[in-house]
Amino acid sequence: MPKETYSVTTPIYYVNAAPHLGTAYTTVAADTVCRYQRMNGKDVALVTGMDEHGQKVADTAADHGMQPQEWCDSMEPAFRNAWEELDIKYTDFVRTTEPRHAVTVQDFWQKLYDKGYLYKGAYEGWYCVHEETYYAESDLEKNEDGKFVCPDCKREVQLMASGEENWFFKLSEFQQPLLDYYESHPDFIRPESRKNEVVSFVSRGLKDLSISRSTFSWGIPLPFDEGHVAYVWADALLAYLTGIGYADESREGEFDIRWPMQYHFVGKDIIRFHCVIWPAMLMAAGLPIAYTVFGHGFLLTKGEKMSKSKGNGLMPSDLIKVFGVDAYRYYFMSDVQFGADGSISMERMVQVYNNELANTWGNLVSRVMNMTKKYFDGKVPNACAHSCENPLKPLADELYQKYDAAMERVDFSGAAAAVQELAARANRYIEETEPFKLAKDPEKQDELECVMYNLLEAIRIIALYMAPFAPHTSEEVYKRLGLGSIQDVEDIKAATEWGQLPAGNPIEVGDPLFPRLDVDNLPELG
Ligand code: MSP
Repeated sequence: MPKETYSVTTPIYYVNAAPHLGTAYTTVAADTVCRYQRMNGKDVALVTGMDEHGQKVADTAADHGMQPQEWCDSMEPAFRNAWEELDIKYTDFVRTTEPRHAVTVQDFWQKLYDKGYLYKGAYEGWYCVHEETYYAESDLEKNEDGKFVCPDCKREVQLMASGEENWFFKLSEFQQPLLDYYESHPDFIRPESRKNEVVSFVSRGLKDLSISRSTFSWGIPLPFDEGHVAYVWADALLAYLTGIGYADESREGEFDIRWPMQYHFVGKDIIRFHCVIWPAMLMAAGLPIAYTVFGHGFLLTKGEKMSKSKGNGLMPSDLIKVFGVDAYRYYFMSDVQFGADGSISMERMVQVYNNELANTWGNLVSRVMNMTKKYFDGKVPNACAHSCENPLKPLADELYQKYDAAMERVDFSGAAAAVQELAARANRYIEETEPFKLAKDPEKQDELECVMYNLLEAIRIIALYMAPFAPHTSEEVYKRLGLGSIQDVEDIKAATEWGQLPAGNPIEVGDPLFPRLDVDNLPELG
């Protein structure tokens, strides 16, 4: 039977600056859930990429004395390297300047043109280049000089009143269909708070959307009017289709099995594009709509949103140097409730690292491996053949259900907490059973075997559940238990059933997985 597909996107990031902690956050979240779903037997696609067109990128290139294409090419390594460093296993990386993406965009808008959803008109109104967004005057704010500024980024907005003719998409026709869709698909916009925001926005009425520009040329020409290039959002959203083979003959059939996707992961700043414009575009094209748009919160430092333009903050690689990639991923996923804004700090990162990774998980592995080496000559002892009490098994037995339910809701903190519970219980089990005392009494050899087997088996199971968060260390633990690669696991439910660690397997002690960190001399976070 073919595997069930599971497809996810990150935003297609603007290339005006390199990825920072905020953009890395969305990408790590998407990768974490994808890694889990691969282990859960799904055929996973993870689409990410670079949003290269539009005025903002053209302006940034000019500021650097470069042509736009040259600037975009120069930024590609920054994105690819950041995702490699963070261990992101994407299946497609779409650059919106690639010819294959132009095919998607032109095919899509031609369809909407043919269906009568587009018309030409003059746009008069306000535009924020930084947000690449049109605003109604009633939504704008004023700065100290009395000038209109963007309500989101507070930069001055531009008046577009040059008599420029644009192509418009009849978005206003979709007000009721969208409201009906939200009503009949309660999981389309998550979390709930974002849904309320979108419903109230759409209820106030929708204006038609200008989807082309003719005063500059940095974009994809519309096939029915080549003097116009697609508005950057009318281009970038379609990268989600390009990333799974839309209009690509060499990927025959892929689009049909992957669309509609399970999740678009986005920050709350771009929820309206994904929950209003995007589904309306798809409805007009006669395509189904992704199951869920999940709008997560912002990472805050000292109460402020981290952003690449403000430059407040470190780059992912600065933190990876201190904590390592696994701890980086684990911290952001476990400590910030996905969906809500979350303050991050170096102090807290050190705390989570030391408590949950060094003391609980890493220490458990070190202690148990060391004892196995000492008492059993570095070999996994026999599993318990008696009816000894084993408090770890019931916890392990219910872990799949808890963890899977949390991952299905993309409640990463919940999933991480469920694994921590087993690791903490295993540490307590060592205190309770005192294997170091059992080892001194030859009559207690059987009991010692049982205890040590239970601990090693708990470690194997924890490694599996930790893998989506912390892939390197889990792989390392698997290796130290004399097992194959976690990457080959395709049925985590079956793989975590109790009692599969083979007796006699040689184990390796190795270095501490998470050496304790000193709080002094850490870099500043913002
Ligand atoms: N190019 C558009 C997206 C087009 S998708 C078809 C864009 N790009 S962006 O580079 O500005 O990325 C925005 C995304 O980065 C946010 O939606 C969010 O996912 C992430 N974040 C940026 N700053 C963030 C925080 N401070 N905290 C959390 N996520 C943040 O918008």
